[in-house]
Amino acid sequence: MEEDYVFKIVVIGDSAVGKTQLLGRFTRDEFFFDSKSTIGIEFQTRTVDIGRKRVKAQIWDTAGQERYRAVTSAYYRGALGAMLVYDITKRHTFEHATRWVDELRAHADKSIVVMLIGNKADLTGRAVHADEAAAFAEEQGLFFSEASALSGENVERAFLRLLHEIH
Ligand code: GTP
Repeated sequence: MEEDYVFKIVVIGDSAVGKTQLLGRFTRDEFFFDSKSTIGIEFQTRTVDIGRKRVKAQIWDTAGQERYRAVTSAYYRGALGAMLVYDITKRHTFEHATRWVDELRAHADKSIVVMLIGNKADLTGRAVHADEAAAFAEEQGLFFSEASALSGENVERAFLRLLHEIH
């Protein structure tokens, strides 16, 4: 069936935080332990019903590594939503979230809806408290959820929430 809307979503965050696996979990319910670093840009789609409309989420994934990022403005162009991902066991990936927010503010549309995701919630050895991340998200005007691409916990819910907020 034809969709009513296509929503472009971008997934951003440091290298190895799990961006590609979150996307794979949401679009195909898959997870790979030996995930390779993304080089360049890829996108995947999944069509979902939001309210009474069919929405095709076109979700873009790019490399977190600086040296693969020549893209910025083209990557963000037309994006209605962003998933900003960090790894709850790697504090520096959370501390870099401010830089990713700056990049969004510089290149994305002002009305972009952003969700901060603390990924790898299945792991022990937490280095970032959920309360701290929630406070940062509130201060920056972002939605927030922890999730696990490995177990699937909260992945669907976070993407659907983002799509719902865009709608
Ligand atoms: P770049 O492409 O380099 O920017 O990395 P990325 O953010 O896309 O990370 P990717 O999805 O490739 O995952 C990096 C590593 O973390 C892989 O070994 C994954 O298997 C692992 N990983 C991803 N998500 C999770 C998760 O929720 N839990 C656990 N335990 N491991 C995860």
